[in-house]
Amino acid sequence: MAEYANGMNKTIDTLRSEHRTTSSRLDLLEREIDALREGATPDYELINLLVQYFNGYAQQLHHVKEDLVYRRLLTSFDRTQDALPDLEEEHEQLAGQVAAFAEAMEHVQSDAEIPMGQIVDICTQYVTAQRKHMELEETLFFPKARERLSDQDWADLEGQIAQIEAAPGNASRRQEADALEQEIHVQMQDEQPADS
Ligand SMILES: [Fe+2]
Ligand SMILES: [Fe+2]
Repeated sequence: MAEYANGMNKTIDTLRSEHRTTSSRLDLLEREIDALREGATPDYELINLLVQYFNGYAQQLHHVKEDLVYRRLLTSFDRTQDALPDLEEEHEQLAGQVAAFAEAMEHVQSDAEIPMGQIVDICTQYVTAQRKHMELEETLFFPKARERLSDQDWADLEGQIAQIEAAPGNASRRQEADALEQEIHVQMQDEQPADS
């Protein structure tokens, strides 16, 4: 029975939950970009935390898990038929964009002579590309994977993903991400008006 296609699917649920977190972090980043655009001083501490978040767990573990699902899907599916883009390639492009974004923020904070418009463009490009990528995964990749992969495929993937999550480097990466989440949360609370 296609249990994973129609019922609970731990892998997809986890990936979608990670998208929701990433999406709310992109909202925060956009707000800081708006401040930059308007010539105000953004919250650099928060931006640095967001850079670490996008560069760390979000970039390195989320995409690794998706790549596993994607490669399994390609074993029985011609992606060009359904116009599914090359997701591994998109992940590489996003890695390049997040690196450019991190570098741009370093320059801003070290008073390097870079036009602010250029910084805003780099950050905006990253946010736009990341949102577009996640939307494509939600609307095309995840539904296709659910439809095409067998229960055995999903069971195998769950096992592989559990191994990846439990690998020593990744377990500490997960702890860092959780600590980062805490810090971002505290940072946001600090910004709330005292009477709210
Ligand atoms: Fe992805
Ligand atoms: Fe994703």
